[in-house]
Amino acid sequence: MADVRLEKVTPGNVDAAIALRVRSDQERFVSPVVNSLAEAYVRPEKAWPRLIFDGEDLVGFVMAFFDIRFDPDDPDDRPRSGLWRLNIAEGRQGRGYGRFAVESVCEEIRRRGQSRVTVTWAEGEGGPEGFYLRLGFRRTGETSGDQVVGELDLKAKRRPAPS
Ligand SMILES: CC(C)(COP(=O)(O)OP(=O)(O)OC[C@H]1O[C@@H](n2cnc3c(N)ncnc32)[C@H](O)[C@@H]1OP(=O)(O)O)[C@@H](O)C(=O)NCCC(=O)NCCS
Repeated sequence: MADVRLEKVTPGNVDAAIALRVRSDQERFVSPVVNSLAEAYVRPEKAWPRLIFDGEDLVGFVMAFFDIRFDPDDPDDRPRSGLWRLNIAEGRQGRGYGRFAVESVCEEIRRRGQSRVTVTWAEGEGGPEGFYLRLGFRRTGETSGDQVVGELDLKAKRRPAPS
């Protein structure tokens, strides 16, 4: 992981970003990068899109969100921050890039003075649930649409998840 880093989306790399694909059987679990970039364009203050590079190679895309209420009609629903999208390219998975992206988002959320990281995922064969649980996320018991809500407490002492 010597030269793994996040980069902003630029005119020079946007075409490669849009061409990035997860495995076809995983496409139902995450939106295409082009959709995420459009969402980031209309909510620039809430979205934090970044490309994951290993050396010269584009290996993934991650987008964090900041201070979004899941249910704007519920006055008790606090603003949350976390992972909005995570796409590791087909053929590049299983090498620690996903973990790097999640840790980078955690670092950014910590830098903004917050300590809870939220993510939602769809359940199903080939889905990301095992990945998030492995990284220490826990189900909150809530749902958002048809997705389950998971959270990581950055203040909690880090303990490896059971294998
Ligand atoms: C889920 C995803 C982001 C994981 O990225 P990745 O780069 O393959 O994951 P990593 O290599 O960083 O794995 C980190 C750890 O999680 C484990 N892990 C990864 N995917 C897993 C899965 N589906 N189930 C269980 N564990 C998993 C790895 O074995 C590794 O464990 P270790 O540290 O003990 O060795 C990637 O598979 C992906 O892009 N999937 C398609 C899109 C998607 O579902 N995105 C999430 C939308 S919410």
